[in-house]
Amino acid sequence: MSTHRIFILPLWIRLWHWTNALLIITLAITGASLHFADPSLPLVPFATAARLHDIAGLSLACLYGFFVIANIVSGNWWQYVPKPGGFRERCARQTRFYCWGIFRGEAHPYPPTKDANFNSLQQIVYWFVMYFFMPLLVLTGLIFLWPDLAPSRVFGMDGLVPVAVLHYLVGLVIVTFMIAHIYLGTTGVKITSLFKMMITGWHEE
Ligand code: HEM
Repeated sequence: MSTHRIFILPLWIRLWHWTNALLIITLAITGASLHFADPSLPLVPFATAARLHDIAGLSLACLYGFFVIANIVSGNWWQYVPKPGGFRERCARQTRFYCWGIFRGEAHPYPPTKDANFNSLQQIVYWFVMYFFMPLLVLTGLIFLWPDLAPSRVFGMDGLVPVAVLHYLVGLVIVTFMIAHIYLGTTGVKITSLFKMMITGWHEE
């Protein structure tokens, strides 16, 4: 069977993606260590975890700024916008493919093109992750780093409490997304194809 290849991912997206993944993994490990660790048996020693979490968090804030600006300048933000005209049907067809068709060797219903890199489910999920949850994660993290930014009281409690709860919950959402995302990354023509695409920029089908 011959393989058709198209180049769809410029270098800046690939560099952003893997730097972002590395920072999120560092933040998840150090964050879990700070949140759960038994002080006598930490996953990462507390002081190291706190320092690494701060450095990775500040780096993520800068990288996120780069992501937003690069998406605006390059016009790539448009890829993330769900398009009207059968959006629900496209989501339903894609869901059916992930739950059923994929196990029967059916072809991908909406293979990526240079202009439409994401299928409708990816559009909606990536949009929420990149433009709703990521800014919330960064913002609550920055308030944690500079607690004077937090309101002094919210609903009668210390203003940092809702910030802390939100930061923790959004972190969980992003880690859960990452696990599902890595599984879906195995659904290319070969189990490794989509990971290779994120490295080389070439999509194979
Ligand atoms: C080790 C961790 C990760 C791995 C192995 C991984 C793998 C992949 C793969 C294989 C793709 C291409 C699949 C596709 O067609 O969409 C992809 C795309 C993408 N990933 Fe990840 N990912 C990781 C972490 C993350 C994280 C933490 C985020 C965001 C918080 C993220 C956001 C994205 C986005 C937005 C795309 C689409 C990029 C584009 O095509 O413009 N990834 N990732």
